[in-house]
Amino acid sequence: MTAGLAALGEEAARAHASYGDDALIVCDRLVRIFSAEKIEVQALQGLDLLIQKGELTAMVGASGSGKSTLMNILAGLDVPTAGSVRVAGQDLATMNPRQRLAYRRRTVGFVWQQTARNLLPYLTAEQNVTLPMRLSGAARRIRRARALDLLDVLGVGHCASHKPAQMSGGEQQRAAIAVAMANKPRVLLADEPTGELDSATAADVFGALQTANTELGVTVLVVTHDPAVSSLVRRVIAIRDGRTSTETLRRSTDADGGQAHDAVEYAVLDRAGRLQLPHEMIEPLGMRDRVRLQAEPDHIGVWPDAPVSHPGTAGSGTAGSGTAGSGTAGSGTAGNSTAETSEEAGR
Ligand SMILES: Nc1ncnc2c1ncn2[C@@H]1O[C@H](COP(=O)(O)OP(=O)(O)OP(=O)(O)O)[C@@H](O)[C@H]1O
Ligand SMILES: [Mg+2]
Repeated sequence: MTAGLAALGEEAARAHASYGDDALIVCDRLVRIFSAEKIEVQALQGLDLLIQKGELTAMVGASGSGKSTLMNILAGLDVPTAGSVRVAGQDLATMNPRQRLAYRRRTVGFVWQQTARNLLPYLTAEQNVTLPMRLSGAARRIRRARALDLLDVLGVGHCASHKPAQMSGGEQQRAAIAVAMANKPRVLLADEPTGELDSATAADVFGALQTANTELGVTVLVVTHDPAVSSLVRRVIAIRDGRTSTETLRRSTDADGGQAHDAVEYAVLDRAGRLQLPHEMIEPLGMRDRVRLQAEPDHIGVWPDAPVSHPGTAGSGTAGSGTAGSGTAGSGTAGNSTAETSEEAGR
């Protein structure tokens, strides 16, 4: 018995130690608080996120939900107030300035929304791509060959000798991806790279990100407001109020041209067991402050706080209807009918 308990304890300790051990990006209860003029803004409020090597993940969320704050931390441009963040085994919260510089030069590449922020205006596309390689000491011959290769793969080989002003917005963003890929980073971060582009051009730029992911093997995290973009990605993470709230996973069916289908939306369960219920599900049920939970063999029911006068009746009626409507996808409907049942039972 004691040995059994000890084994359980060891298992729990292992599970704790190994959170995200196999992931390329690990955010563990990440907090970022900005203080401006005595007002505190909690931009990230204990965000957990794991991204595996090789994934292409989109991140969506309302304005102000914390997407850029997270991207800036992952890019090594900002540090969290609390929590831990690891990318490719490197701890971003405790890096010294030298390690941070090396990290930004070699481990991550980034593409920003503003085309002007990505490319130097007085250099050609080729020179823009060779610059990061020069800074990290690559030989001249290798630099030039790799720059031309990257521009080619990303569909802007014809722009190699053009300066940004001679390129379209979409071409500039594809060249920006080449710049970000110059030093063979492990992770490519793109914060609304298609935000300033029309939808056809945005699709080209997104195609270039997919190429970087599949052909150059980089793990990509892209922030987007564009539903057309997020519908093409296997995993879409939604951020709400500084935390990951839902995730949509799509199974792609290659049979009809690689289009992604079968989207399933999941709520994110954090390490402490916390779950964020979407407003559109809790509001119609009048759920607030507290809810009752009912453990079932294969699911957990969540019920509005019912009047306490007839707990037995309300409880059993609720559990019964909950079981009947236990299909996960139909939980909104099941919840609605349940709320009626509970109210009636309470009257
Ligand atoms: N440097 C800063 N100082 C003070 N507050 C900040 C700072 N940067 C961001 N914030 C605040 O943090 C919150 C999250 O901002 P963030 O830029 O991460 O949002 P976002 O999800 O990228 O929004 P958008 O879609 O508009 O780009 C916002 O309330 C914002 O006002
Ligand atoms: Mg932003």
